[in-house]
Amino acid sequence: MVSESSQSRNGNFLQKFLKERLPVEELQHLAEKKKVPVHKHSVWYYMGGIAAVLFAIQVITGVLLMVYYVPEINSAHASILKINSQINFGWFIRSLHSWSANLMIAVVIIHLFSTYFMKAYRAPREFTWWTGLVMLVVCLAFGFTGYLLPWDDVSFFATKIGLDVASKIPAIGGLIAYMLRGGDIVSQATISRFFMIHVAVLPLVTLAVLGAHMFFIQVHGIAEPAFFKKLPEEKRKYEKFFPEFMFKDILVWLLAANVLFVLTMLWPWGIGPEADPFAAAPLGIKPEWYFLAPFQFLKLIPPMVGPIEGELFGIILMSLVGLGFVLVPIYDTGVSESRSKISTAFGTFVLLGVILFSLWGALS
Ligand code: HEM
Repeated sequence: MVSESSQSRNGNFLQKFLKERLPVEELQHLAEKKKVPVHKHSVWYYMGGIAAVLFAIQVITGVLLMVYYVPEINSAHASILKINSQINFGWFIRSLHSWSANLMIAVVIIHLFSTYFMKAYRAPREFTWWTGLVMLVVCLAFGFTGYLLPWDDVSFFATKIGLDVASKIPAIGGLIAYMLRGGDIVSQATISRFFMIHVAVLPLVTLAVLGAHMFFIQVHGIAEPAFFKKLPEEKRKYEKFFPEFMFKDILVWLLAANVLFVLTMLWPWGIGPEADPFAAAPLGIKPEWYFLAPFQFLKLIPPMVGPIEGELFGIILMSLVGLGFVLVPIYDTGVSESRSKISTAFGTFVLLGVILFSLWGALS
């Protein structure tokens, strides 16, 4: 039996060993110094952490899927069928990956709008906001490139349509779509490119951009919403990031993991028939839910708007909305009450638009 004194001797030795080699005290000090405001909207502070955990699950399950997935036009579909039906727990890992991808995009969208409405983009957090916006684009790119990989009929035609729309972007769209396809049609060249982007380029970009996002959050701490800042000092409550918030964070991650496991077990991810590039597109084909809003919006616009082609007009309008999100930290700095109200109204308008068009797209 190990005596108590030898246990504490081992503990002391380990502490001393780590302290001499790693900045343990500095890290501990940093975590203890960081404080989280406690108010009626504190629940939104958990969203970024959930997104990060789901991303970690994506990396682990993605690496495992790569063991059996074959990015080859004649084998891709068969390799997914094999993962689903012959590899031990293959269906489980694949379903985790697909469900976690969808949850992650949903959580990132919630995180975006919650930080937007709490005005966390204001100085000095502009770079946190901009790196966040890049992460949203990266998450959508993960979704778009991953969708093609099973090479089933829906994924094939959704990619074809998505790239055709992208090619309408003025000046650069045609070239980008051509390069992503690896030619004029979706083919082996497209699968090779999408696979490389999905498993190498995007994870590396994520590492850099998410690293910067986390760094800025450490530097600036958690933002305090305006109504909280206005409270008298004795009414402003905080909790320490470590250990109080951290433990609640872990609890929330476990809850998110539970939701993910329940979805995975109850609704394992299926696969459609193998893509046939020469067949007609399946009737009523729709993109994934996170592309439904722009898809439905573009469907609404007539073929020509004045002298401009309808799709191009729609793309220009949506790009302007995107630009609004990029520029909001410069426009709404917190000095002008009217600018603050206009930004909130703009965010509300876009959020309602996204919800409405997504629902409309899903139900039509
Ligand atoms: C995979 C994507 C993302 C991950 C893993 C992530 C992670 C995080 C984490 C852990 C935090 C600190 C806790 C919190 O406030 O939730 C945070 C804060 C923040 N994030 Fe993200 N984020 C992502 C995407 C985004 C996006 C799309 C935006 C918006 C454009 C964004 C904007 C912000 C801002 C402004 C803060 C500071 C919030 C504050 O100080 O209260 N992030 N993020």
